Amino acid sequence: MNYNEQRIKQETLKKEFCELLQSTHREGVDYVIEDLETLGFFDAPASTKFHLNHDGGLCEHSLNVCKVGLMLREEMMKLSPASEAFLKKDSVIIATLLHDVCKAEIYKKVMKRQKNEYGIWEDVSGFDVDYSSFPMGHGEKSVIRLLLSGLELTDEEMLAIRWHMSAWDLAFQSPEQKNNLNMARDLYPLCALLQSADGLASSIIERKKQNGD
Ligand SMILES: [Fe+2]
Ligand SMILES: [Fe+2]
Repeated sequence: MNYNEQRIKQETLKKEFCELLQSTHREGVDYVIEDLETLGFFDAPASTKFHLNHDGGLCEHSLNVCKVGLMLREEMMKLSPASEAFLKKDSVIIATLLHDVCKAEIYKKVMKRQKNEYGIWEDVSGFDVDYSSFPMGHGEKSVIRLLLSGLELTDEEMLAIRWHMSAWDLAFQSPEQKNNLNMARDLYPLCALLQSADGLASSIIERKKQNGD
């Protein structure tokens, strides 16, 4: 994909992201979009070397998680009609699109030395991470950023975003955190939905080609 095609793709993804978020009519979404723009969210990759490690990857990942989340909601409602009451569409959109806003400003573009397929060293563009602007953690940082932007969030949306990494984001010396994670999942099924959607999007939709694929 050349530079122009990449820019067009990023603009299309950004438009889709903003329209979906604005479809919730939630108080504060326009402030969030403004702040995300300033932080560099729409240009950021989703990771340094794993899924979608290219410009615009973070927005693309957020949209993928949203699409999987909305699909899971529909399918769960077919299997269990009562779930419509606790899997509200707007909450699924808000939690999935915004779960990783903590990553908006942490990736820095760098040149790296890497061996090419012929074993020759060459300079390639890549990313490093730098948490120094606001070292606040992961899910909890997303929640705080969103509140600071002026977004109205429900308790279940905050907890789903806070715990979207499930046990991967637990301080191993903290039994309190483990209890909080379990309690959040018990109280709000949105937590399980977001954890599943995030894992399915990154492991299946965004899977990098492996040997043998
Ligand atoms: Fe995350
Ligand atoms: Fe994610």
